[in-house]
Amino acid sequence: MARTILTGIKPTGTGDLHLGNYVGAIQPSIKLSREKDVIGYFFIANYHSLTSLFSPKEHRLCVRRAAASWLACGLDGEKVIFYLQSDIPELLELNWILSCVTPKGLMNRAHSYKAKQDQNQQSGQKELDDGVNMGLYGYPVLMAADILLFSANEVPVGGDQIQHLEMTRDIAQKFNRIYKTDLLCLPKTLGRKEIIIPGLDGRKMSKSYNNTIPLFCDPKALRKLVMKIKTDSLPPEEPKNPENSLIFEIYTHFAEQEEITSLRKQYSEGIGWGEAKEILYEKLNDFLKDKRDIYHYYMEENSPLDKILKEGKEKARAVAQSFMKKVRSVIGLS
Ligand code: TRP
Repeated sequence: MARTILTGIKPTGTGDLHLGNYVGAIQPSIKLSREKDVIGYFFIANYHSLTSLFSPKEHRLCVRRAAASWLACGLDGEKVIFYLQSDIPELLELNWILSCVTPKGLMNRAHSYKAKQDQNQQSGQKELDDGVNMGLYGYPVLMAADILLFSANEVPVGGDQIQHLEMTRDIAQKFNRIYKTDLLCLPKTLGRKEIIIPGLDGRKMSKSYNNTIPLFCDPKALRKLVMKIKTDSLPPEEPKNPENSLIFEIYTHFAEQEEITSLRKQYSEGIGWGEAKEILYEKLNDFLKDKRDIYHYYMEENSPLDKILKEGKEKARAVAQSFMKKVRSVIGLS
């Protein structure tokens, strides 16, 4: 039986995607989308980003970057339905309908909202809702609409989104109960196994630590970053332990098994850090060069990307419109 998987990609605007995003989020979702009997919905969640992104110019750029990045990483625009959230106005209608069955208290418990309140409290701000707009507050309802409109069975997300998925299930159940229907399909809460890769300094690779290796930087910049990876000060001829080497750890995520075995052997025989970094650089560059080219192609040429998104929009809207007819009928709007 076909499974419908769906995931939203938030164009954050905080810069370029990095190897950590690739290994932890992009690659597993793309792998899933390529499986047999999978219907994949992938969209750029740009209605969601309106809660915090207020520059039209930046909005356009972030959306474009996010879409180009996922295509460059191997998302197949022919196999999956790839679209912009803002191209599907039916989502907003469903969002409203779901809002009307969602208890306010449920939204009070959302992590993203609570985090904002905690931040206000810590900074001594008396009004705990300072800086909270209704978009942020109702974020989980829109996310529920994203998922329920397409009857998704599985939603691959990171750990920070699991609560939102549970809310989706709660909201769907509430709707189904109130309207005595089983129209809304409850998605499985499917947390992704967290795959974390270390950054240049050994902490988790993350934008907030400024220790990342971006996916699409040019080879020169890539090399420079690899050369910055932290090592100990063992001399070149000394045998080295691969288990506590960042270079080795990053390498294992991108190299084939034999290559890993061979590097392990070189470590035990003694390898200079410069040489190990050179090997890692070559591997990463090899892995990234086609992706980089595809990314720049989609960033520079408007029409190929627009065409993919337009096709996605048409397919997604057809499903959305026919589903909304059923929703309207169930609740008495038709
Ligand atoms: N909230 C998700 C994030 O911040 C993005 C998102 C929006 C999403 N709608 C979704 C993810 C629906 C999965 C399903 O990453």
